[in-house]
Amino acid sequence: MKQHLLFLTWALVLIACEKDPSVLPSEHDPSAASEALKDAASFPVGAAVNYNNFLANPPYSNLVKRDFNSITLENEMKNASLVKGGGVFDFSRADAMVNAAGSLQIFGHTLVWHTQQAASYYKAAAGITSSPAASQEEIAAKLDAELRRTIGAIAGHYKGKVQAWDVINELFADNGAIRNNSNTSTSGSDVLVWSHYLGRDLGAKAFQYAAEADPSAKLFLNDYGLESNPVKLDSLIAFVNELKAKGVKIDGIGTQMHISLNTSRTGIESMFKKLAATGLLVRVSELDILVNPSSATGFVLTPAIAESQAEMYQFVVQSYISNVPSSQRHGITVWGVMDASSWRYQNGKDFPLLYDNEFNKKPAYAGFLKALN
Ligand code: XIL
Repeated sequence: MKQHLLFLTWALVLIACEKDPSVLPSEHDPSAASEALKDAASFPVGAAVNYNNFLANPPYSNLVKRDFNSITLENEMKNASLVKGGGVFDFSRADAMVNAAGSLQIFGHTLVWHTQQAASYYKAAAGITSSPAASQEEIAAKLDAELRRTIGAIAGHYKGKVQAWDVINELFADNGAIRNNSNTSTSGSDVLVWSHYLGRDLGAKAFQYAAEADPSAKLFLNDYGLESNPVKLDSLIAFVNELKAKGVKIDGIGTQMHISLNTSRTGIESMFKKLAATGLLVRVSELDILVNPSSATGFVLTPAIAESQAEMYQFVVQSYISNVPSSQRHGITVWGVMDASSWRYQNGKDFPLLYDNEFNKKPAYAGFLKALN
């Protein structure tokens, strides 16, 4: 009887171990994941990089060069970084990063957005803030001229250096409508909703000006929430088809994928299927995966949660590979390097990326790699 009890306890312990990945070695053991993502992938794998770390933190920049073959400048190619008072361009910081990139491909982010831009300059230039304000026609004509000047200068400056651009970022509101001053908050000093004044035509214009400035760059429309908002996704796809029908050069769609452990896997699958059906290039442009989406205080990244995150990274990459034909895969970019560099880190409340703060690979890295292999 005693022996039976002993056996039973032992069996229960074994079962418990199997259920708890913190006890048994993880399925996504990062110490066994020595291969670089860029070597395992048949498409570009990128990281968003920031100025200080990329230029002055060798462990960071060496890691980026070791594991990735593409970068997106996290902020330095945004309008606010390049356009100064009076509408004058200053490329010095972005140029320094481009020069340090070596053989890494550079994805340009972003030519048009409603935020992080020299909004007060453009508003004054277009007569939006003049008193009395200019007529709608005058505003539209002046903004159109500024749009052409800005895209021409930036895409022209990086011609041959940037191989692709997010031409427009986040054009759609969550209800699927094109952004305007009612469905988008205009309170920030860096906010100017270009499509409020230029309407749907903003699409054809921006893509045309980008194609004129750099005919060989691949041109993308980029947006967020497409995996969880089918209304927005369908509306974006209808817009893209409209541009194609007009003969506008648009090469691809970027899906940001700022997701979490709770994001619906069915939503991700169906998004990739619909994006692939457009026949255009498809790119995961800003991937990160929250493990503490409710931002609970005192949250701890346990081995079990790190394992769930690894599974989600693996799922996203697998779903991309199985739903997007290889000729349409423009690549996957992760939005940052170590957790502390993530825009969603919140001082240690979340851990969305592939590396911990000592630059060690997390199970998430092994999950990404497993899907590639
Ligand atoms: C974020 C950067 O990561 C932050 O450093 C910055 O303060 C705000 O912008 N969608 C985008 C990115 O297209 O440009 C944003 O990047 C994240 C959301």
